[in-house]
Amino acid sequence: MTTAHERALTVEELKADLTLEQLQQLVGLVEYDEHNDVFPVTGWDAIVFVVGNATQAAQYYQSAWGMELVAYSGPEHGNRDHKAFVLRSGSTRFVLKGAVDPDSPLADHHRRHGDGVVDIALEVPDVDRCIARAHEVGATVLEEPHDLTDEHGTVRVAAIATYGETRHTLVQREVDGATYAGPYLPGYVARTSSITRKDGQPKRLFQALDHVVGNVELGRMDEWVAFYNKVMGFTNMAEFIGDDIATDYSALMSKVVANGNHRVKFPLNEPAVARKKSQIDEYLEFYRGAGAQHLALATNDILATVDALRDNGVEFLDTPDSYYEDPALRARIGQVRVPIDELQKRRILVDRDEDGYLLQIFTKPLGDRPTVFFELIERHGSLGFGKGNFKALFEAIEREQERRGNL
Ligand SMILES: [Fe+2]
Repeated sequence: MTTAHERALTVEELKADLTLEQLQQLVGLVEYDEHNDVFPVTGWDAIVFVVGNATQAAQYYQSAWGMELVAYSGPEHGNRDHKAFVLRSGSTRFVLKGAVDPDSPLADHHRRHGDGVVDIALEVPDVDRCIARAHEVGATVLEEPHDLTDEHGTVRVAAIATYGETRHTLVQREVDGATYAGPYLPGYVARTSSITRKDGQPKRLFQALDHVVGNVELGRMDEWVAFYNKVMGFTNMAEFIGDDIATDYSALMSKVVANGNHRVKFPLNEPAVARKKSQIDEYLEFYRGAGAQHLALATNDILATVDALRDNGVEFLDTPDSYYEDPALRARIGQVRVPIDELQKRRILVDRDEDGYLLQIFTKPLGDRPTVFFELIERHGSLGFGKGNFKALFEAIEREQERRGNL
């Protein structure tokens, strides 16, 4: 019998009608044998946000980002502490939590960090095996493995600490041969959206989650790379140091780790010494420490996605015309699937490496603080992260930083 973790696709990917070929293109999925993996990870389970007003944030992600409401937990169903809304787009699942009880720990978390990612939950085939490894190498285990059960079945969960106050909840959705059949986790009820999609907008604006970037404190990047290598068996994908990511004012260092099948990719940034305050320093100051900086959402049509998002009021970082008119850029990127002026019109960036190219664009910060934001990414063979765009991107961020008085 084939078990869920031996199938090439996850339950969420199958539900979203995604194929293996699509995922290879969208997020660079690769084949791998988990049997020798000390800490096998299947993929993302959910990105859990703490926000100041989950009721309104849930509306925003539905109306602006085209996400679909699938589950809910709150006071009406016995959860007196907070409200939680579960939204999906393709195989991506976001959970938005906001405190109801003023004494909720989520209210304290929000006061310190503002809107942000509290949990990068990962789907694993064997929670106990992962936690045994975590103990063996001295990782911080926040929750020991335990079962959560309701009328839809059982999931087995545990949690380990990562950078800042961020955690990885590990979720095993198949226990004793039975896959959990509820809308999210025990305690959540199914809930559907009352929001209708605008005419002419794509069925969904993104299909999968590509990577989540962590900003960590100065001098601690290698420590967190070692954590993902040693505890979770992640491998290093690419490395950018020093001049690669420096402008006149701002600099950072970045390394990327990935799980065996490359569904889960974590670039880790730390600030580097520069003439003025780095964008990473600004994040660390306003988030009060290390945390998730941006989430890259994979789309197979970034032009249609960006048009729809702009139409829905989402704001993106601007890119100067000089970026598109630069002959060096034109020579470097060669032919891409659309004329460059189509990209220029939308301020979409393009980068090429030995494997292919990618198109990408970044939003402005999502909340009140200059912290978490999104990237849209359309990959065409490239497994990179837009290294060639970092300078143009950072200059755009710095213009925003300057306007906020934080440069
Ligand atoms: Fe990125």
